[in-house]
Amino acid sequence: RVLDLLHAQGIGACLATATASPPPWAGIRYPGLLPEDRDGSRFWHGSRQAYSPTSPDYLRLSAELVTAIAGRYASHPAVRLWHVNNEFGCHLPADYSDNAARAFRVWLAERYGQIEALNDAWGTQFWSQRYGSFDEIVPPRKAPYSLNPAGVLDFKRFTSDSLLNLFLNEKRIIREAGGGQPVTTNFMGAFEPLDYHRWAPHLDVIADDSYPDPNDPDAWRAAAFTRDLIRSLKPDTPWLLMEQATNAVNWRPSNAPKAPGQMAALSMQAVARGADAVMFFQWRQSRAGSEKFHSAMLPHAGTGTDTWRSVVQLGTDLEALPALGRVGARVAVVYDWENRWAVEQPDHPVALDYLAEVQRWHSALLDEGVLVDVVDAEADLSGYDAVFAPLLYLLTERAADGLKAAVARGAAVLTGPFSDVVDEHDRFRHGGFTTQLGDVWGVRVTEFGALALSAPGQQRAPVDVGGLGAFDGTHFAEELTVDSAEVIARFQGGRTDAMPAVTMRAHGEGRAFYVATIPDDAGLRALVRMVARPTGPAPRLGTETVRRGEVTFEIDHEAHTVAVTGP
Ligand code: GLA
Repeated sequence: RVLDLLHAQGIGACLATATASPPPWAGIRYPGLLPEDRDGSRFWHGSRQAYSPTSPDYLRLSAELVTAIAGRYASHPAVRLWHVNNEFGCHLPADYSDNAARAFRVWLAERYGQIEALNDAWGTQFWSQRYGSFDEIVPPRKAPYSLNPAGVLDFKRFTSDSLLNLFLNEKRIIREAGGGQPVTTNFMGAFEPLDYHRWAPHLDVIADDSYPDPNDPDAWRAAAFTRDLIRSLKPDTPWLLMEQATNAVNWRPSNAPKAPGQMAALSMQAVARGADAVMFFQWRQSRAGSEKFHSAMLPHAGTGTDTWRSVVQLGTDLEALPALGRVGARVAVVYDWENRWAVEQPDHPVALDYLAEVQRWHSALLDEGVLVDVVDAEADLSGYDAVFAPLLYLLTERAADGLKAAVARGAAVLTGPFSDVVDEHDRFRHGGFTTQLGDVWGVRVTEFGALALSAPGQQRAPVDVGGLGAFDGTHFAEELTVDSAEVIARFQGGRTDAMPAVTMRAHGEGRAFYVATIPDDAGLRALVRMVARPTGPAPRLGTETVRRGEVTFEIDHEAHTVAVTGP
């Protein structure tokens, strides 16, 4: 009835598959369907997403449901797009139940073949963790102390794959029922538990959910980062902003309404950065339930509201836009899920927030007016003049080859600190640090040296970048041996006094930069200017200028205004 009604009004529908929230009877009848925490406690029904992604009962019941829905609606003329499940992993980043244990063993057996190969990859001779068979392996459950890091890394890969498996099952059922429409699911920006680079090829179109906090004056920066990441997942296919809020959400401790113009400015930011659709959660506010305070297109107070008017106005403004082309970035920043998982494990020289550090580089590029793609470590880098790959701790041979090729081709590549440290199993390679790219940089790392540990009370060490002003380094003051590189900056003071802090080795037109510390904001901007060589003027702080094809968007995130110019 609803689809007929929409169709009669010329409205197309994106139909969801309804598998994201099993009803209470499912977990009551099949208790194994309920997921478990790392300490073995069970998640019950009464909220949503209470299912174990590897439960045979969940797989069977959800397949029956999707078969019924797709069988009934696949050829309905209103259905233009399929939305599989919802925000995979959002509330339950991982399941540690016996279902998960069984499926993890199968996944590992496929990856390693023999248990001895796994023992070698995980280094299980340490702390007598050697496994006699795959049957002895459990998910990284609650344990007295640090878990085997290679095992944790594989469990993260497995978790991402097991949710991807659900997506693929549903997509297959839709196709078998004759549903030829594009199939997607809604991503959540740089969501930690899922490696969207592995997911992206399986989605016909990328869709993202985005809820910047109106209270945070810098939220538009993080949003710019995720929009660039989401666009770069499928560079030639415009993406969909599937969910955002018209106004306030309900799930933060303090849920500020959006300022006048803010919803439009953030919507246009998505369009400028590659989106071809702007949608909302939700159509109409609900009378009951957890989200009854969440904003909607149609609020409780009805159509006589600014919220309603702002949504109608946005529709008018979007219709008035000219045809939009591609966002043609010539610079890339590497954001790599496997590196995030590996970098953020414990027992390292210093604790790091991987996403925050990558975002800081993105922000510095934003402030210098440089438009970037956000790509994974093994991405095709052939279209870029400059590549920023901070924190490439886990470096596969393929990623190393890509960076080497980029430098050889004449691009500028910046890496470090804490880069080229381990292989894909989080193991040191023979030969110490920087075994893959040492020759490209012309330097070798001999010690990492965490500033906080080596100089108690002194968290930062000054770095002097010749001609570009001094800045402070943070977190690391690595000890470098220079084989054949130009030293651009040296540490001043502390344990690494006078030692190289930033180096550059030229390879024809190509330049390979190594940074032995995490620079402060001034340092990031100085290095961005040196490596990316921006040509235009830097935008006024708090504003962004983005060119998409022939159209230029100037967005002021303080005044919440947008100017669009083009043919
Ligand atoms: C997510 C979900 C929606 C809704 C919104 C609320 O994006 O997909 O169902 O819960 O959050 O912000």
